[in-house]
Amino acid sequence: MALHNTRKLNAKPTSAVESDVLSSDAQTYVFPEVSREPKTVYRTIHDQLVLDGNSQHNLATFCTTWIEPEVKQLMDESADKNMIDKDEYPQTAAIEERCVHMLANLWNSPEAASTIGCSTTGSSEAAMLGGLALKWKWRKRQRAQGKPADSPGNERPNLVMGPVQVCWHKFCRYFDVEIREVPMEGDRLLLTPEEVLKRCDENTIGVVVTLGVTFTMQFEPVHEISMALDKLQVETGLDIPIHVDGASGAFLAPFLQPDLLWDFRLPRVKSINASGHKFGLAPLGVGWALWREKHDLPEELIFDVNYLGGNMPTFALNFSRPGGEIICQYYNFLRLGKQGYGKIQAECSAIGAYLAGKIAELGPFEIIYDGNGGIPGLCWKLKDGASYPFTLYDVADRLREHGWLVPAYSMPPNREDLVIQRILIRHGFTREMGEELLCEMKQTIEHLQHPMGRPRRSDAGVGSHNHSGR
Ligand SMILES: Cc1ncc(COP(=O)(O)O)c(C=O)c1O
Repeated sequence: MALHNTRKLNAKPTSAVESDVLSSDAQTYVFPEVSREPKTVYRTIHDQLVLDGNSQHNLATFCTTWIEPEVKQLMDESADKNMIDKDEYPQTAAIEERCVHMLANLWNSPEAASTIGCSTTGSSEAAMLGGLALKWKWRKRQRAQGKPADSPGNERPNLVMGPVQVCWHKFCRYFDVEIREVPMEGDRLLLTPEEVLKRCDENTIGVVVTLGVTFTMQFEPVHEISMALDKLQVETGLDIPIHVDGASGAFLAPFLQPDLLWDFRLPRVKSINASGHKFGLAPLGVGWALWREKHDLPEELIFDVNYLGGNMPTFALNFSRPGGEIICQYYNFLRLGKQGYGKIQAECSAIGAYLAGKIAELGPFEIIYDGNGGIPGLCWKLKDGASYPFTLYDVADRLREHGWLVPAYSMPPNREDLVIQRILIRHGFTREMGEELLCEMKQTIEHLQHPMGRPRRSDAGVGSHNHSGR
């Protein structure tokens, strides 16, 4: 991987005094011959990391960058805890279990005490587990109807979804499932019940509905899709389950829109994934996968291992995994409660909506998502019909030069022609920072409107600018 070469070569040694120690091989790919003093090595790496961006100005990522001192302390205290080793760390295991049940309660599981679920490294792993459970359940249904998986025309199951994050493309490719991704069409940028119904058949293992679409931040209509599938079942007998990708939304909707029906209140919603490290506000490295009821997770996917000192059931793609993020997720649940999460998410949403109004006033931009009803933040495009001497990529580049990461990217099929720019508002982004950003955007537009021979970046090669899925 040569991705970080530029920075690697540009990195400077710690100081003139220490440069003799680490200037040469600390920045090569050659495995070091000799040992060194921890302090010197720490200082060198610390200084290299200074060249990374400032996470508070990174408005591209969904992941939390807000860390309380107590979280740092707990992370420090749990650096040696391996999540898989439940016999050695029974308290950590109990904390994970409590988090699963708290989430089941938050997501209105009919039987929160008997819900089954697990922590993961993030939503991607949780999505894989959700998809696998759907595939195994479908196989079982097929077998029950006397149609084994390898009977003619029955070889390849399919999964229906809207504009999803790349983890679902990975799931379908890695686990050999046909992806039936509803393409965007004109102004329809989300999944709709009608489009779902057009693609469902007896080989459909499920429908993935995203609560907080990566590209536009909006929530897809879980309730409406669920009702359409109920009707389909009455008419055809096809009983197609829903998995909700709530990577962001599952930690937003319960606090901001408690009456929105998207979770286990809908019997058709069989599983949900969420990223603890996004709006769950935990440090990076934790996600959650929950199933409505025990039988929604096929037993064949659970392995028992006895070599860690007890008989342990495991259901995950990883084996060893740090425990600190889960412990800190638990800290956040206890520390914030519904009240704290609600306050934080509402403030983030309000800032997003405020910025949407102000960015619309700047002139060249048409707001596509104004911060209401979905993920805190906003996105916009250049106004149709007007001609500007710059693209959104130019805006992103200029802002980047000034330390702000505000990505511009093209939409997935069929709307690759539509380029948008997106801001995510996370906890820690203040109104003052919003004003600073607005000022920077005004200056950026003024600068770009008077290019003075500045080379213009075209929309070509948009693929390499697609930073949407983080
Ligand atoms: C809708 C959606 N699903 C899944 C993911 C993957 O999540 P993670 O980064 O936690 O693996 C993302 C990431 O942005 C997302 O937006």
